[in-house]
This record gives sequence, C-alpha cells and structure tokens, in this order.
Amino acid sequence: MIRPRRNRRTESIRGLVRETELTASHLILPLFLHEGDDDQPIASMPGCTRWSLAGLVKEAGEAHALGIPAIVLFPAIAESLKTRACEEAWNPDGLIPRAIAALKAAHPRLTVITDVALDPYNADGHDGLVDDNGIILNDPTVIALCQQALCHARAGADIISPSDMMDGRVAALRAALDSENFTDISIMSYTAKYASACYGPFRGALDSAPKFGDKKTYQMDPANGREAEREARLDEAEGADILMVKPALPYLDILYRIRQITPLPLAAYHVSGEYLMVKAAAASGWIDEKKLAMEQLTSIRRAGADMILTYFAKDVARWLQSSP
Ligand code: PBG
Repeated sequence: MIRPRRNRRTESIRGLVRETELTASHLILPLFLHEGDDDQPIASMPGCTRWSLAGLVKEAGEAHALGIPAIVLFPAIAESLKTRACEEAWNPDGLIPRAIAALKAAHPRLTVITDVALDPYNADGHDGLVDDNGIILNDPTVIALCQQALCHARAGADIISPSDMMDGRVAALRAALDSENFTDISIMSYTAKYASACYGPFRGALDSAPKFGDKKTYQMDPANGREAEREARLDEAEGADILMVKPALPYLDILYRIRQITPLPLAAYHVSGEYLMVKAAAASGWIDEKKLAMEQLTSIRRAGADMILTYFAKDVARWLQSSP
C-alpha cells in the first residue's frame, strides 16, 4: 500500500523531505523612525517602535546580529514639513538620508532598503502629487520619485523600493540612477500592490493616511489577478531587480502566478494588518503567536517568495535560534 505518512514518521525524516525553509536570511525588517530623541512605542502596532536615529542604529544592529540581512526604512515626518510638492522627500539633510548614512557607518554589511513614495511627505497623504481637483499626477510624480531615489542613493542606500504604483516609474528610476552612475543600486519594485484594508495600522504609525479619497486609482483592485501579471511583465521589462507582492497572505495566488512568469526574485510584504491579526488574536489568548506566525511566513515562502518583509523578523530569528 502506498502510505504518504511514512515520510512524516519522525522529525528527522520530516526534515529530509521538507520542501520549504524559512530562515532569518530570507527576512527584511521594516523599521519606523522619527526626528525626535525618544523611542516611541507605536499605539496602532504593538511590538513596533518609532525609533530615534540612535535607537534605529541599535535596533538595526540587533537585527543584523540575529542574521537578518536587510532592513527597510519608513519615516514619520513632522506635519510642518509636509507640503503639496513633497520637497522634503529629497532634502539631502532629511531624516532618511541621515539615517542611511548613520546605518551604513555603523553596520556596513547591513543591506539598507528605502521606500520611494511621497505619502510620508505629502500634505494630501497620497503616494503621488495631487492637483487642485484631487487628481493624482502620474508623470510629475515619477519625476519627484526620481529625485527622492537619487537623494537616497547619494546617502548610500543599497536598494530603493518604489511603493507608489505610478506607471513607468521603474524605467524612469533605473535611468535616473544610471545617469548618476548608481548602476549597482537595485530596484525592488512593489509590482502588485493592492488597495488593501491591511495598511490601516501602518498609516496610523506614520500618520500618513490620505486626507481625502482612497488609493484605488493607483493601488490594485483585490479582485484582479491577470492585471498583476501585466504589472510584473512591465516591471521586469523596465529593469526591476526584485518584484514584490503586497499584502502577502490574501494574495498567495498572485505570488504563485508571478512566480510562474518571471525569473526575477520575488518579495512578499506581510503587512501591518496581517501582523496585527496575529498579535491581536495572540493577545486575547486565542491563538499561539509563534506557531501561527511561522506557519504564515512558511506559507508565503512556499507560494514563491524568496524574501519576506515582516514585522516578525526579529521574533522569527529568535524563535529559530531557540528551537531550530
Ligand atoms: C505607502 C506604503 C504603505 C505601506 C508601505 N508603504 C501604505 C499605503 O500604501 O497606504 C504599508 C505597509 C504596511 O501596512 O505594513 N507608500
């Protein structure tokens, strides 16, 4: 009789037949920072902190020491610096360029990824520039994103990661980076970023929710799958180095589909709402946080993600150290 259970009989055999590994080397830790000297717990995201520069450098060092190869930065910008033209996004003395420089000085081998989008700097809270009628201006936004990316590149970023979903931005960013000889700086593109209810806690952390309307003219409709394949083909043709699907769990089919059509590495973003669903259920004593987080992240890898952006990155690294 054919008995699949033979391959599950002992932990040793299960290890031999295991198809998917989740290790710290696959994880990217998103980190929030702000201008102040204090490290502020984020009310909307238990377990996460809005770091000062000094706190950020220390936290990134701890993550790196745990085997996490990369971090991605998200700045909380003072309301007084937010404008409709978003100039603070490419201020060479701004929070992000100073953070990149401090991180690279303290941890030269840590990969520093920066988010390229205007929402933290935008008086309107949108990822793109907005005209008087509330219309998102695609092509002027792409020019602004290029200025922002160059600012990050000059400060020493390793990878820039456009999360804005404007058309044509990957090609424009590649050309802008190359024009200043930043030919070695990679682009990790948010390829299929859906208009999701899962971003609420993140927007609370940065106070970056759109002041009017929603993001549905640029972020994708959760109902669409073929459209994600189209975005993937475009980003690949425009020169992206890594493609991303976001959020992760409700879109594992999208991850799997994109895996079938591109040779590029894939990232998935297990976003703030996904993290909080686990945290909230665990805080109520309703589920086992460690088991559920590990199962979710392993499933994201199985579906096709090479790397995962997750607020659980340090926890996972610690859990793996204590019980490999
Ligand atoms: C915005 C951005 C968002 C996230 C990353 N970059 C939110 C949004 O699009 O409104 C969400 C990440 C998360 O929820 O963890 N450029």
